[in-house]
Amino acid sequence: MLRKLIIGSATAATLALSSGAALAAGGAGYVENYAFAHEGPFGRFDQTQLQRGLQVYTQVCAACHGLRYVPLRTLSDEGGPGLSEDEVRAYIEQNYIEVYDADLQDWRAATPNDHFPQSSMENAPDLSLMTKARAGFSGPYGLALNPLFKGMGGSEYVASLLTHYTGSEKEEFGAILYGNETYGGYFAMSAPLWDGAVEYGDGTEATVEQMALDVASFLTWTAEPKLMARKQMGFTAVLMLSLLAVLLYLSNKRLWAPVKARAKGYPAE
Ligand code: HEC
Repeated sequence: MLRKLIIGSATAATLALSSGAALAAGGAGYVENYAFAHEGPFGRFDQTQLQRGLQVYTQVCAACHGLRYVPLRTLSDEGGPGLSEDEVRAYIEQNYIEVYDADLQDWRAATPNDHFPQSSMENAPDLSLMTKARAGFSGPYGLALNPLFKGMGGSEYVASLLTHYTGSEKEEFGAILYGNETYGGYFAMSAPLWDGAVEYGDGTEATVEQMALDVASFLTWTAEPKLMARKQMGFTAVLMLSLLAVLLYLSNKRLWAPVKARAKGYPAE
């Protein structure tokens, strides 16, 4: 029995170690550990940042990438960018957002109940869940210690990806690929941001890093729109459970008090 246990745990340890090494060999690139407002147990989205991120997505990324799992009306949900319903309608109108209607067999103007359009470029992945699909931090050696302290790092991955182009390009099978430290090699997206690519209404300076952080934060919201509600619920649950633990401790003490007193009165035989 003991031998089996030892062999079992040794195999598990070897597997964990080798999978960690395999991940590292897969070309996992450099990810900067940015501090986001939504991180940590009490983290909350910065609403103005989400609005700026929506602007960056709309004016830059939407040219290629879609958000097809995100209903437009959720832009006015609590815990999100917080547009009013009129602002959502204005947003759709100003950006000429159209959807293909299967009944009409034609394109028509979107309504708040429609979703964002899908990617318009064939090989550009949909970004709705991108911050959940990429991990910024793993290892060391598959021990999952980094995610414990730094989070999974999907937001950091996206922000890093946009700011860590190496500047080198190469041509492969007729396509131009761009070097990126975070991607850990060459891929098909050219650097989409440059200083001043958008003009923020709130006066924030639109540096590449600022826009990258804003859009990464917005894409974290699209992937987890109920993040703030979830954290609040978790906090309440921990509070209630702590209270319950104290009450249980006290009632346990009280319940056993007569037994203990008796035990003290009559020493053990
Ligand atoms: C000109 C079109 C274009 C624009 C604009 C663009 N992208 Fe991309 N993006 C692509 C393509 C194409 C890929 C797929 C590249 C590949 O896998 O080789 C991609 C891939 C990605 C990926 C996935 C990388 C990975 O790990 O696989 C992310 C994240 C991303 N883009 C984010 C953005 C964001 C955020 C913006 C806006 C700031 C943006 N993109 C603007 C074309 C674009």
